[in-house]
Amino acid sequence: MMDARLARGVSILRPHPSFDAPFIPNPEIPAMTASTQDILVHTEAGVTTITFNRVDKKNSITTTMYAAMADALVAAEADAAVRVVVFQGDVAIFSAGNDIGDFLQQPPATQDSPVFRFLHGIAAFPKPVIASVCGPAVGIGTTMLFHCDLVYAGDNAAFSMPFVNLGLCPEAASSLLVPQMMGYHRAAEALLLGEPFMAEAALEVGLVNRVVPPTECNGIAQAQAKKLAAKPLSALIETKRLMKMGQIHPVLERMAEEGASFGRMLREPAAREAFSAFMEKRKPDFSKA
Ligand code: COA
Repeated sequence: MMDARLARGVSILRPHPSFDAPFIPNPEIPAMTASTQDILVHTEAGVTTITFNRVDKKNSITTTMYAAMADALVAAEADAAVRVVVFQGDVAIFSAGNDIGDFLQQPPATQDSPVFRFLHGIAAFPKPVIASVCGPAVGIGTTMLFHCDLVYAGDNAAFSMPFVNLGLCPEAASSLLVPQMMGYHRAAEALLLGEPFMAEAALEVGLVNRVVPPTECNGIAQAQAKKLAAKPLSALIETKRLMKMGQIHPVLERMAEEGASFGRMLREPAAREAFSAFMEKRKPDFSKA
């Protein structure tokens, strides 16, 4: 289903209402912290940091977590004092992707579901987005990075998009963006074989800006965010809008197309077998899928 704003021909990466508001950090105002259990959202000095905080489940993402991240992006866009968003995980794990049990029980049904709200939110987010990635970044843990402006990776980062291995197809417009960034044949290795690739390979193809020691990664992302937060917001937003303007409509169209297939395939035998096998800690049997 086409995004309603697309259908109306409205620019989704639009100039932001807070365009000309000067950013003056006020030491009198305490840093704002709002947290849910598994996603922490902290705003300070013009930077909203969204932290995956479900390490015992490898930061796999539930419906509730997608909703929290989608809401955090909406709030960060609306707040004139926020200039940059940073996503970060743990030093040993960025995210194991979608929570598989959650997907089995409540597969996303409509374009209004939290996962799609999050994907639309990050793809069309008008202000700069930075990611700090250490350890495994599986599925959406990798595909969300194609919508970030700057990505810093620990040298332990391992990126993978194992959708085929789960009986699924790509999401987050990765079927468009991965071949564009990596070239078709490397994309086929990543998306058809679902083979992981490490930080240095991600650096080589341009998915990450810099590879750093894992313990320094979040700090470097924050330092870069601080630099961006000191720049004029109007210039940041307009520059991002111009860099992305040829791409945003194809991206949202591809997301909608992928979303329809992904939603259907989630309910089919191959995915159900792959998910059951993961939950039961056994190898999947695709002989009948
Ligand atoms: N959904 C739900 N639970 C998950 C999960 C996911 N995507 N990934 C990990 N977990 C859970 C495990 O079930 C396990 O729970 P338990 O302690 O109750 O048994 C716990 O997190 C630890 O995971 P484990 O696999 O033992 O950790 P590991 O360090 O050996 O491996 C990963 C880490 C990320 C490589 C591995 O967990 C993995 O491959 N996860 C699935 C990734 C995936 O296919 N994502 C879906 C993309 S659409």
